[in-house]
Amino acid sequence: MRILNSPAKTAGGNGDRKNLDACSIVIFGASGDLTARKLIPALYHLFKEKQMPAMFRVIGFARREKTDAQWRTELRTALDQFSRTKPVDDKVWAAFAENIFYCVGDLTDDAAYAKLGKQLAAFGNPALSENLLFYFAISPSQFGGVVEQVHKSGLLKKDGPGWQRLVVEKPFGHDLPSAQKLNHELTRFAHESQVFRIDHYLGKETVQNILMFRFSNSIFERLWNRESVDHIQITVSEKIGVGDRGGYYEEAGALRDMVQNHMLQVLSLIAMEPPVSLEAEAVRNEKVKLLQSIRALTPEDVAKQIVRGQYFAGAVGGQMRPGYRQEVKVKPDSNVETFAALKLFIDNWRWSGVPFYLRTGKNLPLSASEVRIQFRPTPNVLFAAQCGNKLDANALTLRLQPNEGISLHFNGKVPGTTIGVRPVRMHFSYDAEFGAYTPEAYERLLLEAIAGDATLFIRRDEVETAWKIADSIRTGWEGKALTNREFYGAGTWGPIAADDLLAQLGHVWHEPQVIK
Ligand SMILES: NC(=O)c1ccc[n+]([C@@H]2O[C@H](COP(=O)([O-])OP(=O)(O)OC[C@H]3O[C@@H](n4cnc5c(N)ncnc54)[C@H](OP(=O)(O)O)[C@@H]3O)[C@@H](O)[C@H]2O)c1
Repeated sequence: MRILNSPAKTAGGNGDRKNLDACSIVIFGASGDLTARKLIPALYHLFKEKQMPAMFRVIGFARREKTDAQWRTELRTALDQFSRTKPVDDKVWAAFAENIFYCVGDLTDDAAYAKLGKQLAAFGNPALSENLLFYFAISPSQFGGVVEQVHKSGLLKKDGPGWQRLVVEKPFGHDLPSAQKLNHELTRFAHESQVFRIDHYLGKETVQNILMFRFSNSIFERLWNRESVDHIQITVSEKIGVGDRGGYYEEAGALRDMVQNHMLQVLSLIAMEPPVSLEAEAVRNEKVKLLQSIRALTPEDVAKQIVRGQYFAGAVGGQMRPGYRQEVKVKPDSNVETFAALKLFIDNWRWSGVPFYLRTGKNLPLSASEVRIQFRPTPNVLFAAQCGNKLDANALTLRLQPNEGISLHFNGKVPGTTIGVRPVRMHFSYDAEFGAYTPEAYERLLLEAIAGDATLFIRRDEVETAWKIADSIRTGWEGKALTNREFYGAGTWGPIAADDLLAQLGHVWHEPQVIK
């Protein structure tokens, strides 16, 4: 993983362009939502912050007829809407837009790829037609065909000249067999090392902070094990409901939408062993090892350790929301989960016996992501007479969003002549310390893909191991209708069954902290 310069440093115009190869970024799905909303704004900001290669081209590929000039105009309109910095800088845009081109074509048409090849060659520099980042902003069902076509047309080669990379977005399948099929299609004509699978969660600054925090601080890492940790809670809560994505959600559910990818990614970063280096393979080897150490779940284990939930009508932030079964394109008797809570065990020396609780859900009281490391309580000797026999245990909370930072919870004496102990908190906030720095996840990810660093991308075995876990849970749920204890009102923290899950070992969920 490369350590990025801060914008403060690069904004000074210190000629700080990385030594990145000249290359062309080919976007399949150029007229789509992802391109306008995320990809072009990300590339524009990288250009503005002088992070792009000194020479590059962006070439969009889609069916709709338009000229380069028309596409540039459309992208500029979209940028005005979606840019994270406003207003858009006209001069920077003008310089950036000179590098943008459009290629009309159908993904299934051989001739279109020949035309694409000609357009790339016409840039007149071998690097711009050999170093190619193919971005798949299209449906996964089209990936295999496109890989074959770019290979057939000579644009994608396994062993040079130049480099070619395939950047693909989740979903990477909907279960293990479909993920294996997709992976097979992607690697028929490319090495695995040429495939960059994006989980945009990994592009978030705060998720990367987990690695930095863990492995650059000796005081915490030596407590990071079963000797000191009682249990760990990972919460990713969403205040929004499924809205107009009912159709998609009926096929996905919280397990496929959030747990299989984002939450297992966070878990693997939190719990993995130190990698031998920050090289992509070293980090990803440790993440896979961790996922493989998660204890397999039989259907009986699923019944005891995994909870699903579904919201019924209720108020979120004072606004009434319909129940999930009343949402558009949702079956009135749907058993799809809008909430999931898991108790997982990691069978390795570091974590043996430590429960990892994961929960995620829609229509919860607030949108927040955090990891809480709950330490073991003190032996109950000194303060029992004065303070009762249960002092709060120490906890370290990594706040991933909002108010990214770290909080340490410990006990402090209440000032005064009597002996009173009260839990207190120490907060660290990235914003307060470093100033607001909020690059979009796609900026980081695109830059890493251009640089060829795969650390923040998901490797094939990671995807497949994560699907094995998700599939075992689905198998346990199969054919079972939701019970009363699995429904929760919109605007609450989830079903009672999720509280029952923690109560088995005397634990309780902690609400994510919002630091004002
Ligand atoms: N939108 C997001 O924020 C987002 C976020 C994460 C992941 N994704 C994933 O990214 C992918 C694209 O999403 P999207 O929202 O951008 O979809 P979209 O708005 O429907 O765009 C699809 C693009 O594919 C092109 N296309 C489709 N069939 C084609 C064909 N036969 N030949 C040439 N071009 C074709 C369309 O262009 P023409 O109609 O002009 O041909 C259009 O540019 C999806 O897999 C989605 O799951 C999207």
